[in-house]
Amino acid sequence: MRTLGLGYIGIDSTDPAAWRPFGTRVLGLSEVAARPAGGAGAPACRFKLDERSWRLAIHRAERDGLAYAGWELPGEAALADAVAQLRADGIEVEIADAQLCSARQVCGLASFRDLVGNRMELFWGALADGPFSSPAGVSGFLTGTLGMGHLLLTVPDAARSSAFYQRALGLRVTDCMDMNGGKSGVFLRATPRHHSLALTDLFPVPSLHHFMLEALTLQDVGLAYDRAQDAGAPITITLGQHFNDRMISFYVQTPGGFSVEFGCHGRIIDEATWTVTQFGGSGDIWGHRGPAMEAIATERRRAAD
Ligand SMILES: [Fe+2]
Repeated sequence: MRTLGLGYIGIDSTDPAAWRPFGTRVLGLSEVAARPAGGAGAPACRFKLDERSWRLAIHRAERDGLAYAGWELPGEAALADAVAQLRADGIEVEIADAQLCSARQVCGLASFRDLVGNRMELFWGALADGPFSSPAGVSGFLTGTLGMGHLLLTVPDAARSSAFYQRALGLRVTDCMDMNGGKSGVFLRATPRHHSLALTDLFPVPSLHHFMLEALTLQDVGLAYDRAQDAGAPITITLGQHFNDRMISFYVQTPGGFSVEFGCHGRIIDEATWTVTQFGGSGDIWGHRGPAMEAIATERRRAAD
């Protein structure tokens, strides 16, 4: 099985109303009607960032974190093959009913849980309903054949989770980072985007560390950096550039407490020539300072002892 990238993200939120101004005014996404309107399981709000009818949904919940991640497949036969392979591997898979497919606006959907319990969805046939127009003037987001961005999940054992995701979603390791004391960060791709999923076992509690949206231009990133600060949203990592994916980005705290990375100019992998490497050091070429980086540095020092 080979997935076509991260198609959508669902977020659990104790304060969905706070996501509205954050999504539109800070990130520059356009809010679209929730579907289905009201009812159990319906999102409180949804956002669009390209021609797809939505990419980010916020659900009212008792907790803040990842509700689900949707991974795209090319069609019905690919979904049937994926379900058969997952079940052959002993993974429990649930086939979505027509109501859930309609809510997600896809033609077909199946779900399973990863090793930590995160809900992963496989889908095909997403609805595209017209061009994106940012209420904050973002020129656009890099999606298309690269998917909508990436996720960083903290897990108890990065190597084990990496093996799981390579098997379950057909992801490929792009590179990995030595975080000291046997702790690591593993970066996995589904498309030529450097990574669609990153995993680290540096932190003690499994959670969503951040998700990433990639804007088209550096000006989009700079303007979003200004908007985040003007809105008083905490900058968890200042503007900087990662060593491995070359992304120029900053991180801002979402209403859920975790961060969103807003970047541009991420690395595109040439499948014909790419070789998996391991890297160390700070992980950055320049910048990327702030409380979330200090938390990483503290855990790395602890791991080294
Ligand atoms: Fe990231």
